[in-house]
Amino acid sequence: MSGKAPDMRVNVAGVELRSPVIAASGTFGYGVEFEDIVSIDRIGGFVTKGLSREPMAGNPTPRIIETAAGMINAIGLQNMGVGPFVREKLPKLAQMKGAVVIANVFGFTIEDCLEVIRVLNESPGIAMYELNASCPNTSHGGMVFGTDPSLLYELVSRTKGASQRPLMVKLSPNVTNIGLMARVASDAGADTVSLVNTFVSLAIDVETRRPRIANVTGGLSGPAIKPIAVRMVHEVSKAVRIPVVGMGGIVNAEDAVEFMMAGATAVQVGTASYADPRAVENIANGLQRWCAKHDVAQVSSLTGSALL
Ligand SMILES: Cc1cc2nc3c(=O)[nH]c(=O)nc-3n(C[C@H](O)[C@H](O)[C@H](O)COP(=O)(O)O)c2cc1C
Repeated sequence: MSGKAPDMRVNVAGVELRSPVIAASGTFGYGVEFEDIVSIDRIGGFVTKGLSREPMAGNPTPRIIETAAGMINAIGLQNMGVGPFVREKLPKLAQMKGAVVIANVFGFTIEDCLEVIRVLNESPGIAMYELNASCPNTSHGGMVFGTDPSLLYELVSRTKGASQRPLMVKLSPNVTNIGLMARVASDAGADTVSLVNTFVSLAIDVETRRPRIANVTGGLSGPAIKPIAVRMVHEVSKAVRIPVVGMGGIVNAEDAVEFMMAGATAVQVGTASYADPRAVENIANGLQRWCAKHDVAQVSSLTGSALL
């Protein structure tokens, strides 16, 4: 082990992060809720809960259940709406020293997404947008965009045209060829892609014969999906030249290293924060220790370094 601390900085589409480990959308609130729990200046940044044009109540309960090595959720993109976010949360985020805020954007139509982007464009304190083209838990919008190449192209190109900040496009894993979808997003102007969102899934209570989630289906996340997510990150990193942000079941530093070796420039951590609210910081610190122990001077050198 050399004496010098490893350089943990990575650059995602022109945004420098002090660590590659980012908190994933929907699992870190609007960021302010974690102010006293996580040292925000130790993590790469966080992605807000998906923001829509109008406030959304989400789906009926039960909408979260635990599964073997994971969870199914069908929150249905409950959120306060972009206006209240800008008025009530952003000023508080501005006071959180060192916070890198990535705003997750969602809409039922392309026009909805553009309106959210226009409101956010007017607001300081946001580093990047993550466009959710992949939510499996709404009947229109969301995953519909992320599974149809021509719709995805239109969504991304128009959003990019309206966006005054770097655009990360979050891809759906519920497709047969995720490399193709990544290429479509890239050709349409995405600055970076993130993957994976959750996998459409179903759990049945065998006593009542009823679905365990009121929405019937939900999205599977957590360690159960990690090997599929790693495979998809690898495929996408081969298909595009823009940076890839990987996620799906990361619970420790080794998981983050695995995603980076598969081709990710940075990673996001979601479900792990439900088991341990400090998970993102612990994984960021653990990744730094891993690099020091393995004589990795620059964490960015791990990207795509697997011998595949
Ligand atoms: C409860 C819950 C809510 C989520 N909400 C959102 C969301 O609003 N927008 C989004 O893009 N992804 C959302 N996701 C997906 C996560 O950001 C992430 O892509 C997925 O859970 C896989 O990572 P993980 O296995 O580390 O959780 C949500 C996931 C969970 C578990």
